[in-house]
Amino acid sequence: MLPKVRTFTSADVDTVSEIFSDIPDGWSKNALAESLENDSIKSFVLEAENTVVAFAAFLVADDAELVFIVTDKTKLRKGYGRILLAETLKMLNLPCVLEVRESNTPAISLYESLGFELLGKRKNFYSNPTESALIYKREA
Ligand SMILES: CC(C)(COP(=O)(O)OP(=O)(O)OC[C@H]1O[C@@H](n2cnc3c(N)ncnc32)[C@H](O)[C@@H]1OP(=O)(O)O)[C@@H](O)C(=O)NCCC(=O)NCCS
Repeated sequence: MLPKVRTFTSADVDTVSEIFSDIPDGWSKNALAESLENDSIKSFVLEAENTVVAFAAFLVADDAELVFIVTDKTKLRKGYGRILLAETLKMLNLPCVLEVRESNTPAISLYESLGFELLGKRKNFYSNPTESALIYKREA
């Protein structure tokens, strides 16, 4: 089965909440279900190996903001995160901003490999643990 990006639906809530289960700050089942009611949030999944393997959510207005991207922890480093982000950016066709913990090397490498450029840093932006955020932007 070729990897396929499609819109996140209510039928995906259980699978995606499983993917989130080990992620600090991961979205709960309720948060995932409620996001479907919010017109400003556009979320997508990547299907591969006969299941949903990754999820990405954006806040969309004049620009897009990547709110979360996550790959199933048993399927990391197989290219799924990159396929999902590259395809969704193409679909949205908007400038995109994001914030990321400065220690999150996997995510930072992914973003930089897709052309995101560092705009700045918010000191001590995150809690548990306290950490600065790096702000990245990519033009459409
Ligand atoms: C960030 C994340 C989504 C990447 O997903 P993935 O499916 O493993 O990513 P890919 O296999 O497509 O890798 C794409 C690129 O990301 C970078 N990358 C991914 N994992 C990496 C790691 N462990 N160390 C360094 N770079 C890494 C590399 O540049 C990689 O390209 P390469 O394999 O050609 O070197 C995944 O690590 C994840 O779910 N992390 C937890 C949630 C999170 O922190 N999300 C981001 C903040 S919202």
